[in-house]
Amino acid sequence: MPRLTVNDRPVEFDLDPEMPLLYALREALNLTGTKAAGGGDCSCGVCTVIVDGTALRSCKITLAEAEGRYVTTIEGLSRDRSHPVQQAMVAEQAIQCGYCTPGIVMAAAALLQRNAAPSKADIIEAIPNMCRCGVYPRLVEAVQRAGRALREIERINSLAAPPGTSAAEAAETVPAITAPGSAED
Ligand code: FES
Ligand code: FES
Repeated sequence: MPRLTVNDRPVEFDLDPEMPLLYALREALNLTGTKAAGGGDCSCGVCTVIVDGTALRSCKITLAEAEGRYVTTIEGLSRDRSHPVQQAMVAEQAIQCGYCTPGIVMAAAALLQRNAAPSKADIIEAIPNMCRCGVYPRLVEAVQRAGRALREIERINSLAAPPGTSAAEAAETVPAITAPGSAED
């Protein structure tokens, strides 16, 4: 049974190791902030999560490939939506329907972890995610603004409201997983 760490929580999946990580996150862990579109037959990026510091499309890797790795989803990026990318996306109104937003936020967060002052070209290269609503121009400004906040040369007043449900609460009663060391283990 594949074991990995998701949002700081060690989990063991009682699932087919060939299942795409995307569906394990959504269906077993109830972490539905990671979105699904073509489910492996697309490269839209709505399913982007951070795996060992790198933004990856979770529909493209299996649970077996994620074995032993450290996965962060949008729910784990910050518990209260206080991450600078989240705040800057709201401040710059770089969200319309919002379906692409979690994947874009994760790709942007991974970019800023390695380069907190990205150029427009850096952003376009690191965030090839599709947005059918066309938020791209605002997205560049939002990512650069988040970078300035991370470098502490700008403060973004808190705009993104905290979610009503925590990731831990969402995953509380899911039978398809066990936490190593727990009573069910
Ligand atoms: S659902 Fe994963 S790339 Fe589109
Ligand atoms: S905001 Fe609608 S798809 Fe990007």
